[in-house]
Amino acid sequence: MLKRFRQLSRRVLYPFNRRKIYPSQTVKINGDTFFIRETEIEDIKELLAVERKIYVGQLPWTKSAFLTELKSSIPHLYLSVFAESELLGFIGSRIIGDDCHITNIAIIPEYQGRGIGGRLIDEIVKFAIMNRCETVSLEVRMSNKDAQRLYRKKGFVSKAVKPAYYNETNEDALDMIKIIEEE
Ligand SMILES: CC(C)(COP(=O)(O)OP(=O)(O)OC[C@H]1O[C@@H](n2cnc3c(N)ncnc32)[C@H](O)[C@@H]1OP(=O)(O)O)[C@@H](O)C(=O)NCCC(=O)NCCS
Repeated sequence: MLKRFRQLSRRVLYPFNRRKIYPSQTVKINGDTFFIRETEIEDIKELLAVERKIYVGQLPWTKSAFLTELKSSIPHLYLSVFAESELLGFIGSRIIGDDCHITNIAIIPEYQGRGIGGRLIDEIVKFAIMNRCETVSLEVRMSNKDAQRLYRKKGFVSKAVKPAYYNETNEDALDMIKIIEEE
């Protein structure tokens, strides 16, 4: 009952308190300074440029996919990370029921392996805890072992294989989940 009420009030109040979710912050990661703030619609052009740098020749998410996510009435948090004014990457998540689902995460190649992706995951886990979620979940390509290593380090475990999940290549996805421990 309490759980149903929590979910309902989250949905009803959401449009009114949407902008208060994430206070922008300057963070130190392995000695370097970065700036993290909520992703805005005006960032989409640069988000697409980030994707172009990573997925050379392909564009996994289109402008309209980003727009739909950022304007969604489902509780969500998208974060962008910057060095000076350069957009280095982003992470996206949305809450459905008691699960916070990470929809996308990407860091430009020059900045990968410096702890930024891990820090963005930590921020989403905090968002999930704030919203009393029980799990954080994501899908990752079976072949993307680097990303899987990071997710395991962050406490995610394999849950299931989703066969032929990625349309373009028919590649399977690994469904991963992190259980949020009660404090
Ligand atoms: C996956 C990704 C978001 C991780 O972000 P990141 O900032 O590179 O990750 P971090 O620096 O916080 O974590 C590094 C750890 O993750 C792993 N890792 C993942 N991708 C890595 C990379 N390209 N280079 C080095 N380490 C990588 C390693 O296990 C590393 O751990 P270690 O330092 O103990 O060796 C980023 O590499 C990326 O954008 N990759 C391309 C897009 C992608 O695969 N997105 C995920 C789709 S599900």
